[in-house]
Amino acid sequence: MRHGTLFATLSFISVQVAALAPPGPWDKFNLAPKTRTSRPTSIRTVFGDVQNANALVNSSIGAATLNGNGSYVVLDFGQEVGGRVFLTAAHSTPDSRLSLSFTESAEFISPTNSDDSCRAVFTMDSDGVQSLPIPLQQGKFMQTVGQQRGGFRFMTVVSNSDAQVSIMDIGVQNTFMPHWDDLRAYTGYFFTHDPSFHDPDFLTKLWYAGAYTVQTNTIDVHQARQIPCPEPRGWANNDTGGPVEGPILVDAAKRDRNIWPGDMGISSHTELVALNDILPSKNSLLVMFSTQDPVTGSLQYSGPPINAKGSDTYIAWSLVGTHNVWLYTGDIDFVRTVWVNYTRAIAFLESQVDETGLMNVPQEFSNDWGRDGGQGHNSAANVLLYRALITGAELSSHLGDDELSSAYAANATALKEVINNLLWDNEAGMYRDNEITTIHPQDGNALAILFNMTQRQEQNKAISQGLTQFWTDIGPLSPEINDTISPFVGGFEVQAHFIAGEGKRAIDLLHRAFVKSTINSLQWGYMLYTNLSVQSTLLEGFTANGSLGYRAAAGANFDHSFTSHSHGWATGPTLALTFHVLGIGITSPLGKTWTINPVLSGLQSAEGGFETRLGWFGVKWNVDKNVLTVMISTPEGTSGTVSLPGSGQVQVDGEVITGQHVELSGGSHVLMSDLA
Ligand SMILES: *[C@@H]1O[C@H](CO)[C@@H](O)[C@H](O)[C@H]1NC(C)=O
Ligand SMILES: *[C@@H]1O[C@H](CO)[C@@H](O)[C@H](O)[C@H]1NC(C)=O
Ligand SMILES: *[C@@H]1O[C@H](CO)[C@@H](O)[C@H](O)[C@H]1NC(C)=O
Ligand SMILES: *[C@@H]1O[C@H](CO)[C@@H](O)[C@H](O)[C@H]1NC(C)=O
Ligand SMILES: *[C@@H]1O[C@H](CO)[C@@H](O)[C@H](O)[C@H]1NC(C)=O
Ligand SMILES: *[C@@H]1O[C@H](CO)[C@@H](O)[C@H](O)[C@H]1NC(C)=O
Ligand SMILES: *[C@@H]1O[C@H](CO)[C@@H](O)[C@H](O)[C@H]1NC(C)=O
Ligand SMILES: *[C@@H]1O[C@H](CO)[C@@H](O)[C@H](O)[C@H]1NC(C)=O
Ligand SMILES: *[C@@H]1O[C@H](CO)[C@@H](O)[C@H](O)[C@H]1NC(C)=O
Repeated sequence: MRHGTLFATLSFISVQVAALAPPGPWDKFNLAPKTRTSRPTSIRTVFGDVQNANALVNSSIGAATLNGNGSYVVLDFGQEVGGRVFLTAAHSTPDSRLSLSFTESAEFISPTNSDDSCRAVFTMDSDGVQSLPIPLQQGKFMQTVGQQRGGFRFMTVVSNSDAQVSIMDIGVQNTFMPHWDDLRAYTGYFFTHDPSFHDPDFLTKLWYAGAYTVQTNTIDVHQARQIPCPEPRGWANNDTGGPVEGPILVDAAKRDRNIWPGDMGISSHTELVALNDILPSKNSLLVMFSTQDPVTGSLQYSGPPINAKGSDTYIAWSLVGTHNVWLYTGDIDFVRTVWVNYTRAIAFLESQVDETGLMNVPQEFSNDWGRDGGQGHNSAANVLLYRALITGAELSSHLGDDELSSAYAANATALKEVINNLLWDNEAGMYRDNEITTIHPQDGNALAILFNMTQRQEQNKAISQGLTQFWTDIGPLSPEINDTISPFVGGFEVQAHFIAGEGKRAIDLLHRAFVKSTINSLQWGYMLYTNLSVQSTLLEGFTANGSLGYRAAAGANFDHSFTSHSHGWATGPTLALTFHVLGIGITSPLGKTWTINPVLSGLQSAEGGFETRLGWFGVKWNVDKNVLTVMISTPEGTSGTVSLPGSGQVQVDGEVITGQHVELSGGSHVLMSDLA
């Protein structure tokens, strides 16, 4: 073996000490803008009499002039942006009138309407346009914080009178991630080549699309969407998202701009692997614990100003999220701060455990990610309670309450036994949604693998196989909700396949759900590339036929423009590629202990890593002539276990070892494994 070359290339990861991910060819996939100000990159359409429209994308050629009532120009910012729009009226008269309209999807470009961010209405005209103040002043106009658009790609500038108006210097001051100076200063990266796919960069693009999506979902607490929405139409993004100061992690850029703790079951992990920025998650959880019902101990389903109530699963996600924040920051004081409320919330959920030993979700607490039929002995809700108890046991133990820790652990063990007895369907090789239906849900089954509800690896294999029955060419059609492909639940499913050791299947799911398009009969870009999407950040959901009518018949009033195109809950691939294809896992706070277990998934090479306060966790592997070489770098003073695929000989730093697992201390190591 060629040790010389290996150790020479090792410096690539071992010198990584700064807070930034190393530069490399992956940087060109980073969608974050270089400065706070984004400019339109092209003119999409011109209608009526507009002279010198190109001035709006080229500042060196003066101003664009709109002549006549109804003339307009559609500007394309090239990707999702969000914030306060500005422009300069170079010349105007007292009769000049301008309006602005916005949309994430090209499907809803219109001079008279924006896509809807405030209310879902069948007529799709709830947001309308923003009319600039009358008389239109010459000079610079800038939207207020309330007027800002949280997420859009296209902006239509319309003249609403016959008086001429000339405009120039148009752009948007992005408001997301307010606590960061440099939006591109990622602490993590990911890079692979996917030669089996027509776009070999697809997985890398997807990783960065997820990272940027979550950035756009990180907002100042005082820039939540206003509820109730302005009457009779319009929007306002200057409400307060809870009793904290600073950034919060919300569900999406355009809407709801509100904390939903279930979504954070995906997006908080994305904030770790790309940004090492856990403060927004911590703030969002502080908000959720502050909403506790003082009588019952239940937490809300969402934060303010929506203040939705009635979801056992989302209560459990606030509890599970507390453990995530602790794991990624080591911040035990945060856990202490919320601990009384935390234990009361667990007690609230446990008060619903009935004589069967399962939590019996009442109808009024059966709200979830949008699915139907969550009441009763629902499998997903019980898996989440199990996860809350397991993580609750770990947290109590770190707080020094061993008695409580044992009690939580004992209840978790009992719950696991009952779920497997009552809900496991051996014939189907999957869990049922509850004991009285025949549905084998996507959510309950994916979460059962993710959160270790299964008792045997054969169950994982069977579920992984069973989930493929829901697959269509553009993603899995969840049996627990009509006509819906959910990138949220899909994100759990992707992780489940990796954990089941079915890496190729996981990648296949990404290829489908996030890429393959039958609609345009192209093997190209569903979520990322369909011309219905914003083609940069990730969709909230879509329907079986690929339309944007996510939950169209189930609360969204057939308003396809209401669907969000930048939803953190859709970023499961980002964390899954880091946690499973690189295979880096953190098993104690900040990664004092870790595991590295790359799932090759049919790929030839992958590299990347992330950072915690302890330092850099990096993996770079490649397969050459049946020899897998893995270079790892973890902070000094940490330790962990590396597990390699295959059953051939393994060398660690040049020494042959027995078996496929090895305990290592922090620092840089090179492992080689014979896969033949
Ligand atoms: C902007 O316009 C100037 C003057 O016509 C031209 O020289 C330049 O190439 C244009 N820039 C771009 C980016 O199109
Ligand atoms: C998307 O592409 C199809 C096929 O080229 C075209 O018919 C449709 O108008 C496009 N939609 C949008 C919103 O651009
Ligand atoms: C919030 O924004 C709306 C819409 O721009 C505006 O009407 C309202 O006055 C603002 N409220 C506050 C408190 O600034
Ligand atoms: C501009 O056209 C619209 C639609 O035809 C009309 O309602 C409006 O009154 C016109 N405005 C002016 C100032 O002429
Ligand atoms: C805990 O819940 C109560 C209401 O029951 C609330 O007043 C208090 O602020 C919460 N504590 C924390 C730390 O959020
Ligand atoms: C454990 O479960 C039992 C029975 O559901 C319940 O009464 C008890 O409060 C639970 N213990 C803890 C610590 O949650
Ligand atoms: C899964 O649960 C079993 C007990 O049912 C436990 O022995 C095992 O360590 C758990 N695995 C993980 C990865 O936590
Ligand atoms: C399922 O969705 C389709 C398409 O939106 C709709 O036509 C049908 O009525 C829905 N079925 C139910 C039971 O909601
Ligand atoms: C796709 O399904 C939606 C309902 O989910 C429906 O409104 C729409 O008409 C369908 N589109 C096509 C092209 O079939």
